[in-house]
Amino acid sequence: MKIAFEDHGEGFPIILIHAFPLSGKMWKAQAEHLLQSNYRVILPDMRGFGGTDSFSDINAVEDMAGDVSELMDTLKLPEAIIGGLSMGGYVALEMYRSFPDKIKALVLCDTNHAADTDEKREARFDLIEKIEKDGSRALIDTMLPKLVSERAKNGNTRLIEDLEKQFLETNPKAAIAALRGMAQRNDHTGTLSKINVPSLLVFGADDQVTPPSIGEFMRENISSAELVKIDAAGHYSNLEQPAAFNDALTAFLTALTL
Ligand code: MLT
Repeated sequence: MKIAFEDHGEGFPIILIHAFPLSGKMWKAQAEHLLQSNYRVILPDMRGFGGTDSFSDINAVEDMAGDVSELMDTLKLPEAIIGGLSMGGYVALEMYRSFPDKIKALVLCDTNHAADTDEKREARFDLIEKIEKDGSRALIDTMLPKLVSERAKNGNTRLIEDLEKQFLETNPKAAIAALRGMAQRNDHTGTLSKINVPSLLVFGADDQVTPPSIGEFMRENISSAELVKIDAAGHYSNLEQPAAFNDALTAFLTALTL
């Protein structure tokens, strides 16, 4: 499966995997920052998002992980630092389970090692019904209020408008296929103790979707993990507080031996 991606700079490769329902472009501020520190930054678009087509009624997280692994093969990259936010974090964890030798370090942001609870799965199926009825607008009404912090709602009009635009532009069929894939994703609670590469966990302190308590659990169960909570940030912590997010990333990367 051919996926669209951006590829900038030279140096040790970092692949950043985006959240639902966004695209590789969500990492613009991180890419600009990392390029100054001489990394190669690769931003793939998962199936159905950004420039990548979706041909299936269900886009499994395992398939997305396989796509990123194939992309590494195409680019002749034996190893990379793999980062992901939320859905991107599910993909990164799935990559660690399936292709651990390809991963030099992990950056897991505002994500969850655990599979969906029954309640969460039901909420996804409700959302699918709403998308079938109202199109991608349902993503704005149902998801957006929980994704952004109160602070952003009250002060960051530009971010809210930009997210609304991206949500509206999402292909409804692709959104549904990804929601179905996430609903049946693997549980990675058992993967955590197997992770033996340096791991950075970043969580918005005000993230209501994947709260920092999940990051605390992950830190306790990954032997090589550190957790950074980003103040005044909701679920998309890198978009709400890019400077603090970039500082956390730099501190982690500087300590790595590549
Ligand atoms: C995301 O931001 O990628 C979503 O919140 C993931 C999910 O729906 O579980």
